[in-house]
Amino acid sequence: MNLNELQALYDFSDRTILVTGGAGVLGSEIACALVGLNANVVILDRDQQLAQQVIEQFPKVVKGRAARVYGDVLNVESLQQANEIIKTEFGTMDILINAAGGNHPSATTKPDLSFFDLPLDALRHVNDLNLLGTILPCQVFGRGMAERGEGVILNISSMNAFRPLTRIPAYSAAKAAINNFTQWLAVHMAQNYSPKIRVNAIAPGFFITKQNRFLLTDQDSGELTPRGQSVIAHTPMGRFGTPEDLLGATMWLISPASAFVTGAVIPIDGGFSAFGGV
Ligand SMILES: NC(=O)c1ccc[n+]([C@@H]2O[C@H](COP(=O)([O-])OP(=O)(O)OC[C@H]3O[C@@H](n4cnc5c(N)ncnc54)[C@H](OP(=O)(O)O)[C@@H]3O)[C@@H](O)[C@H]2O)c1
Repeated sequence: MNLNELQALYDFSDRTILVTGGAGVLGSEIACALVGLNANVVILDRDQQLAQQVIEQFPKVVKGRAARVYGDVLNVESLQQANEIIKTEFGTMDILINAAGGNHPSATTKPDLSFFDLPLDALRHVNDLNLLGTILPCQVFGRGMAERGEGVILNISSMNAFRPLTRIPAYSAAKAAINNFTQWLAVHMAQNYSPKIRVNAIAPGFFITKQNRFLLTDQDSGELTPRGQSVIAHTPMGRFGTPEDLLGATMWLISPASAFVTGAVIPIDGGFSAFGGV
């Protein structure tokens, strides 16, 4: 859905929304759309220069405000500092979108790097970034939601969570854990704090971005690799996703339109996860 179509359906005026990894490819697309839907949007990322460049691309005539804040999703102290800054600037933070995450080439098997030799620090980094990098922001920013008795959290899972893809064991395991954690936190928040706190996830299929370009396309020719061809062959809609493809489901999950939905993980994958391959 493009912004014009979304504007007919959603309006996040007076809502403050934090997007971790908001300077990244998918996070920035979501943040940009939220600005166009009148939200106050705060981008949390480590690279503040990039975050500023992203903000400069946002639509200009909007009701809300866009801001950036430094934060490392694996450093609790930096998240707490970010939380204080957001409280001072915006008051409450209503919605948290955990978009920081990703795979890394060093945790990916290759002809000259077998599973048995994947380095511990690479495995730990990918596991921590995706799993703890989601849990820690939920702890720091979810506390205020628990105190107020309302809020929405949206995590970003992946196709790997349902059925692991070859070559990327740590990423697959961490995303599977995100599905489990999403369900766990949804139940925990509803039972212990408020049924008005909802926790869901989206599971994107294949979107060519900086973290998977090296797997899906040939660096020199730009042609699809055999893996990229296989993805297309197993995607009934016959194409990769574009960041815009995430917007409709994202806005639905963070808006009151999904008020009775919690603990759900929604595939956005052109049918990849539904297809048995025959
Ligand atoms: N692209 C896909 O096809 C796809 C498919 C399924 C799921 N996903 C998931 O979607 C999410 C966004 O992916 P993307 O493709 O947009 O990746 P991306 O462009 O790499 O964006 C991720 C952002 O998170 C930031 N980040 C990394 N580590 C961080 C940390 N410790 N603290 C704060 N920020 C940090 C990155 O900054 P740096 O550049 O500084 O590291 C980057 O700005 C990820 O969870 C990814 O796993 C992607």
